[in-house]
Amino acid sequence: MAKEKVFIFDTTLRDGEQVPGCKLNTEEKIKLALKLEELGVDIIEAGFPVSSPGDFKSVEEISRAIKNATVTGLTRAVENDIVVAAQALKDAVNPRIHTGIGSSDNHIKYKFNATREQILERAIAAVKLARNLVPEVEFYAEDAGRADLEFLARLIEATIDAGATIMNIPDTTGSCLPHEYQYKMEYLMNHVPNIDKAILSCHCHNDLGLATANSIAGAIGGARQIECTINGIGERAGNTSLEEVVMVIKKHPSLNLYTDIDTTKLLPMSKLVSDTMRMVVQPNKAVVGDNAYSHSSGIHQDGFLKEATTYEIIAPHEVGADASHIVLTARSGRSALAYRFKNLGYSFDRNQVDDLYQQFLAVADIKKEVEDSDLREMAEKVESIV
Ligand code: KIV
Ligand code: ZN
Repeated sequence: MAKEKVFIFDTTLRDGEQVPGCKLNTEEKIKLALKLEELGVDIIEAGFPVSSPGDFKSVEEISRAIKNATVTGLTRAVENDIVVAAQALKDAVNPRIHTGIGSSDNHIKYKFNATREQILERAIAAVKLARNLVPEVEFYAEDAGRADLEFLARLIEATIDAGATIMNIPDTTGSCLPHEYQYKMEYLMNHVPNIDKAILSCHCHNDLGLATANSIAGAIGGARQIECTINGIGERAGNTSLEEVVMVIKKHPSLNLYTDIDTTKLLPMSKLVSDTMRMVVQPNKAVVGDNAYSHSSGIHQDGFLKEATTYEIIAPHEVGADASHIVLTARSGRSALAYRFKNLGYSFDRNQVDDLYQQFLAVADIKKEVEDSDLREMAEKVESIV
């Protein structure tokens, strides 16, 4: 069976940029958008045009700069939002309006003080208006993670009839378990009569650390678009991390899925977003963290030096990292020490390494990490004795 494509919808510039302190100016947004296109993302969510003149300008400029990817702008199910978004997107080669409304009873009651029927009407009207202004419309059923399934299915059916062709099922509060989110997708695939006219999209938040797992579960359940951000940045605990879902799909051929992302550009992209947004990536972050290809304990180092795949399922070059690192700490062993000496141009016999190892441990117990300068100092003492 041929592999099926999962479209990658990047929302770093919209949901990601909502992180306090990560606000970007138009120039920065254009630079990132061009790099996202080079990375191979299919859809770039450039902003929320009605939210501010600056965001309108960013969406407008990105629409002009991007030549292959689809460019989208977020709106509420509000006439003016949709009209303004269409204006901002007017020069895009492939424009898409991303409109929607709350779908859970919680949102319907507390955010909209409305009934399910009123929400249905507003959703249909928003999609019809958007569809009159741009060729492609994505509908989001906000807080779908907590929505009643039968109502969600009605909402999706009605908005597909109104002209939307991408159905975003957000787990807005990050509350779903993977099997629940998968079931939601399966339920919609099986209970929405016109679902063949649309594709389902995963949009998961990371409040319980499940955003990546949920997005993959959603794809197993039938979704063919995943919404995500570089480094997983986003509201509260963040969104699904682009680099994680892409590498899960790449590393698990049994999923029978693929993306068009050039994975060798993942690390440079992560660094660019981190630098531009001034938001550090946690060192142990999957795929792009500083420690993701570092080995520091003796047992792991010994195995890794015999055969890298003993402790690495991703080769660093696959994601654009230069190499794996053998980090020397008090937990490191002799083989790691010998390896690092060899890299510095020293070759010691077994007895010498044994002696040096005792000196090394003394230093390692004081310092967190033993560096090349420490090793040189030790090596030179041995060489002067010889
Ligand atoms: O998390 C969410 O529900 C969203 C929608 C606005 C798409 O970001
Ligand atoms: Zn979101």
